[in-house]
Amino acid sequence: MKTIELKHPLIEHKLAILRDRKTGTKEFREIIKEISMFLCYEAMSDAKLDEVTVETPIEKMKTGKLNEDNYAFVPILRAGMGMLEGVINVIPNAKIGHIGMYRDEKTFEPINYFFKVPKKIEKKEVVILDPMLATGGSAIDAIDLLKSKGVKKIKFLCIIAAPEGIKKVEKKHPDVQIYCASIDSHLNENKYIVPGLGDAGDRIFGTK
Ligand code: PRP
Ligand code: URA
Repeated sequence: MKTIELKHPLIEHKLAILRDRKTGTKEFREIIKEISMFLCYEAMSDAKLDEVTVETPIEKMKTGKLNEDNYAFVPILRAGMGMLEGVINVIPNAKIGHIGMYRDEKTFEPINYFFKVPKKIEKKEVVILDPMLATGGSAIDAIDLLKSKGVKKIKFLCIIAAPEGIKKVEKKHPDVQIYCASIDSHLNENKYIVPGLGDAGDRIFGTK
């Protein structure tokens, strides 16, 4: 599946603030949340609705409702937590899992340190959250872990993706649809996204 990039002047505007090194923690968090809401809307454009009848003040009508229990959000710790509030605003009854990962500073390989997902996860559509898709290592390991638990439908939401990471994830997991707000230029020698926004986790949590 080809990666979907949100192309919209308002998204570019929000990203310009997010990328700016002078943007402080509060505004950084708010914009991650806002963009995550838009990503979630886009990711739900193929959602199947249950047919329901509602009575408006004027008359009865047949319409559709989402069974929110069929969805689980799984942020990759830490930075993915910054996206959770935004997507939960959109689907408030979705269940939540957590995958703990960090990149080894020398090898850039992801190390998994935590995995906890809701019961019957294999029956749900799982939406993974991580602001940065760089080499793609963390995304691939997170998808591998979820598939090993029997999950069949997975989407991956990120704010910024590098072409190198996209290529790797699309090759290893062609069934996983990636949604991002921007596909940037490339990775630098430290495997940071260029131009990117720096270290997403540190900027969300103010740790540097
Ligand atoms: C960042 C980011 C992704 C990962 C992306 O996390 O949030 O999880 O790197 O890199 P990759 O595509 O090359 O695997 P980091 O390891 O910095 O941990 P953090 O969320 O705790 O800051
Ligand atoms: N992780 C980040 O937080 N930023 C990058 O550019 C790459 C990995």
